[in-house]
Amino acid sequence: MKFISIIILTLTGAVLFAGCGGSQPSANSSGNATMKEPAAGDPKGKGKYTEVILTHPLNDSMVHDGSNTFNVKCAPCHKLSEEKLVGPGWKGVTDRRTPEWIMNFVTNTDEMIDKDPAAQELLDKCMVRMPNQHLNDEAARSVLEFMRSNDGKK
Ligand code: HEC
Repeated sequence: MKFISIIILTLTGAVLFAGCGGSQPSANSSGNATMKEPAAGDPKGKGKYTEVILTHPLNDSMVHDGSNTFNVKCAPCHKLSEEKLVGPGWKGVTDRRTPEWIMNFVTNTDEMIDKDPAAQELLDKCMVRMPNQHLNDEAARSVLEFMRSNDGKK
């Protein structure tokens, strides 16, 4: 048993060095962890959001509210660049995830981390479980609008 847990610790250590968001250089020479195919899963994730209608142009008041929520509740762990803090940097998040996945992740964080392959892959890389931030639907939608604005969407 002890031997097996040492192997597991070594493996997770290698994944940790490979980074969460991929901004740091990899410390292990094999580099396998960074070359894995993205996990297959429902691109909409798990939760009540099956269709999120996006507005064009962006809704300025939602961007503003989302920015405030970001500063208070998300900035301790997320940067707006690609750089990892505790969690992945948000630059490009609206391109790598569907709006439904983001809304489900933010409002249904625990189930997503338990069951969604892409969320589990992030947990493997970041080694920290994002705590549920208890945003209501309106606040979550505003944060999504703020992410879209951060990604230069119009
Ligand atoms: C205590 C640190 C922490 C806080 C606070 C936090 N997060 Fe996270 N977040 C994480 C971690 C760690 C991950 C990677 C997934 C995992 O392992 O749980 C993550 C992942 C994410 C992702 C997926 C990113 C991607 O690249 O796919 C989104 C979206 C997200 N968080 C949104 C939020 C929002 C919105 C808030 C604020 C309301 C927030 N987070 C607050 C730590 C945090």
